Parts: sequence; C-alpha cells; structure tokens
Amino acid sequence: MELKPEEFAQKYLSQMEIRAPKTEIEWEEYYTLRYKILRATLDQPLGSERNDGDKTGQHFALFSEGRIAAIARLDQAEDGISQVRFVAVDNAIRGKGFGRLIMEATEKASIEQGNHKMVLQARDYSVDFYLRLDYTLLEKTHLLFGVIQHYKMEKVY
Ligand SMILES: CC(C)(COP(=O)(O)OP(=O)(O)OC[C@H]1O[C@@H](n2cnc3c(N)ncnc32)[C@H](O)[C@@H]1OP(=O)(O)O)[C@@H](O)C(=O)NCCC(=O)NCCS
Repeated sequence: MELKPEEFAQKYLSQMEIRAPKTEIEWEEYYTLRYKILRATLDQPLGSERNDGDKTGQHFALFSEGRIAAIARLDQAEDGISQVRFVAVDNAIRGKGFGRLIMEATEKASIEQGNHKMVLQARDYSVDFYLRLDYTLLEKTHLLFGVIQHYKMEKVY
C-alpha cells in the first residue's frame, strides 16, 4: 500500500538529515540541484543559480539515502524577519513531504534566531504549496526572467 506523504516522511525521518552541505562534493550537489530545478528549466546559464547572498545565508540540504533531496536558503531580511529563498525538491520525489520538512527546518532556525516572521517570493505554481504550510498571500510582485510571476507571502510566528 502506498504511504501517505506524512507517513513516508515519518518512516524515512530517521534516515534523513537536514544540515548545510560540508564537503566539496556535497556543495556541488547542492548547487546542481538548485540549478536543475530553479534555473535550467528557465534556460538560464550555469552560475546563475548562485549569488552574493550565498556567503551570508544559511544553507539547508535534506539528505535522504545519501543524496540531497531538498534544499533551501535562509536569509536575514530585516530585524526580526527571515526570508527563505531557493526552495527546491528534486523532481522524482515531489509530493512526499520533503518540501514541508525543509521549510519547517528553516522556520525552526528562524524562530531560534529570534525572528517573528518569514517572508518569501513564491513562484505562481508554488503558491498553493506555501498556502498549505499556512503562509498568507500578500501581493503580486515581480516577473522573473519575464516569464514567472511571483507573489509575496509571509508567515508570522
Ligand atoms: C514547491 C515544492 C518545493 C513542493 O515540494 P514537495 O516536496 O512536492 O511538497 P510536499 O510534499 O512537502 O507538500 C507539502 C504540502 O503542500 C501540498 N502541495 C505541494 N505542492 C503543491 C502544489 N503544487 N499545489 C498544491 N498543493 C501542493 C502537498 O499536497 C502537501 O499538502 P499536505 O501536507 O497538507 O498533504 C516542489 O514542488 C518544487 O521544488 N517545485 C519546483 C521549485 C519551486 O517552485 N520552488 C519554490 C520556489 S518559490
């Protein structure tokens, strides 16, 4: 019988680990996943998946069965306010709760660091995912690369 997403996550939770990449190979895998999911599909060149915020942001990678299944970066946007960016789950394992787990890890870290709010810019097709995670839709914002509409969303803790 197929497991529900939350059952799947629970079952494999003990084999999972969420942390920043450590080795060169892990960092390569981390940025490769970011590129594959968030840039290659938009015909953007290799390297476009990285920016200056990578030096200051906190990096989250969900390791499952020895590979990175989901990623996110947590930035300090303003005093008391975090921003999560570059959230992505590998194509083949969507809908199994990994997106929720990586987001919960960023929220936990944000709270522990004394913040009271998370903000994010959601791609149009990911708005429903964030709504499921109790984010509030605030406003329509920019059109990334002229094609993907973004929406500002937030969650107050
Ligand atoms: C958006 C994304 C991160 C979701 O990851 P995921 O692992 O598939 O999501 P989960 O399985 O953890 O889903 C969590 C909840 O959101 C719901 N959900 C996930 N994607 C959804 C969607 N596109 N529409 C509606 N609901 C969705 C799930 O049904 C689940 O609901 P439940 O927990 O109440 O049953 C993933 O699809 C992705 O990487 N997409 C491409 C990149 C992207 O859009 N990133 C965000 C950029 S802002």
